[in-house]
Amino acid sequence: MTDCQDGEGAKTPMELYKRLNEQGEKVRSLKTANAEKADIDAAVQMLLKLKTDYKQVTGQDYKAGCPPSENMVVLDNGPATDGADEDDTVDPWNVSTTSAKGVDYDKLIVRFGSSKIEKELVDRIEKVSGQKPHRFLRRGIFFSHRDMHQVLDAYEKGKSFYLYTGRGPSSEAMHVGHLIPFIFTKWLQDVFDIPLVIQLTDDEKYLWKDLTLEECRRFAVENARDIIACGFDINKTFIFSDLDYMGASPEFYRNVVKIQKHVTFNQVKGIFGFTDSDCIGKISFPAIQAAPSFSNSFPQIFGSRKDVQCLIPCAIDQDPYFRMTRDVAPRIGYPKPALLHSTFFPALQGAQTKMSASDMNSSIFLTDTPKQIKNKINKHAFSGGKDTVEEHRKYGGNPDVDVSFMYLTFFLEDDEQLEKIKQDYTSGALLTGELKKILIETLQPMISQHQEKRKQVTDEIVRQFMTPRPLNFNL
Ligand code: TYM
Repeated sequence: MTDCQDGEGAKTPMELYKRLNEQGEKVRSLKTANAEKADIDAAVQMLLKLKTDYKQVTGQDYKAGCPPSENMVVLDNGPATDGADEDDTVDPWNVSTTSAKGVDYDKLIVRFGSSKIEKELVDRIEKVSGQKPHRFLRRGIFFSHRDMHQVLDAYEKGKSFYLYTGRGPSSEAMHVGHLIPFIFTKWLQDVFDIPLVIQLTDDEKYLWKDLTLEECRRFAVENARDIIACGFDINKTFIFSDLDYMGASPEFYRNVVKIQKHVTFNQVKGIFGFTDSDCIGKISFPAIQAAPSFSNSFPQIFGSRKDVQCLIPCAIDQDPYFRMTRDVAPRIGYPKPALLHSTFFPALQGAQTKMSASDMNSSIFLTDTPKQIKNKINKHAFSGGKDTVEEHRKYGGNPDVDVSFMYLTFFLEDDEQLEKIKQDYTSGALLTGELKKILIETLQPMISQHQEKRKQVTDEIVRQFMTPRPLNFNL
């Protein structure tokens, strides 16, 4: 399965270059012949689209008379947007859409060139792991993947893999949305019994935010406590701060440098939207997030093996980093990491954006008290209910835009109960206040339990998780 898919099939740089020449010629001859304005406009539009595709595939601008060289790098970037889904912005720093239902994830799959997690794949994960699929899989919350079938094929033949995920420690408190990939990663670790590395990108947050190095390092440790409280196996999990591990591991830094050598400034500009005025730290950072995808970055865990397959669970906003990583991997002799992508846990105000760690009212935080949780949900959770009780009883509510219902799809374990809530809300039998009450009663104990577990994470436990050391597993 390739990652570059569009309606007309994958195009090589040379094919695109030839089509651009032909299209340029067509525009010129239409203009010379004084053709209808509409015809000229249509031809120019096509020319512009081809130019965008060319830039997307090659990372460079098309120049007439300068064909692409034979060994030009083809970016693993998916096709350029066709304008149909311009309303959705999804990248590591921004997630927004104008639709109250949230991001159109089916369109995103086409745009990013990943694959949908179909029922067949969920059934296969169940068969191979021997466990009931996690509710995030049953409900399409993890909705997209890259190469998951390949991972399972190898696993069935006795070739295991490792997990890699991460967190950018931008503040002390994490919100519930940040937990989604970690909850799912913990499940994957348990059912496949495999090692896990967790990168804390304190360097990234220093480069992007107005924070000191000391603050970023401290947030990394505080966030590590929340991550550990998710229940990861200390014998199979290594958590590291970039600020510490980069300098301590020659093997890790060697991989960073290899990656840096194989990605041009033009390419990262194309993938991440960097501009000439971004600091050089940002421009080279993607190589640091890419490096943990390769097993020999962790010699204390994998020895000199560079062939251990990596699987990365994350929300889809992180995919640009890993499109770049997958593009580089074969050129430096490493396997491409596989991915499992989740949708976004929406902001309380609605699914138009993901939660923001800097707006306390946009999210439920892992530090919130039961009272704060209740107030936030009652006051801020966007409702799909009608304005009056009478209207609601008569016409029913809309669970597709109702944030309380969306939150329950993430956290209520019982499928039948969830379905009944949906039906009752849609029919009007269940009122908005009642729906919010169910959510409050679901989240309050969940967050309290998390806080209890976090209290038990001592400094010594954090130190153990964050010490480079061998892990227990059989690959
Ligand atoms: P960060 O700290 O922004 O997010 C941590 C993880 O949480 C996911 N995420 C969400 N998932 C569901 N709903 C949300 N509202 C939501 N907000 C964030 C992110 O996709 C991420 O998986 N640069 C990264 C840190 C990182 C990383 C990685 C993440 C380094 N290596 C490998 C994933 C995989 C960051 O700043 O994540």
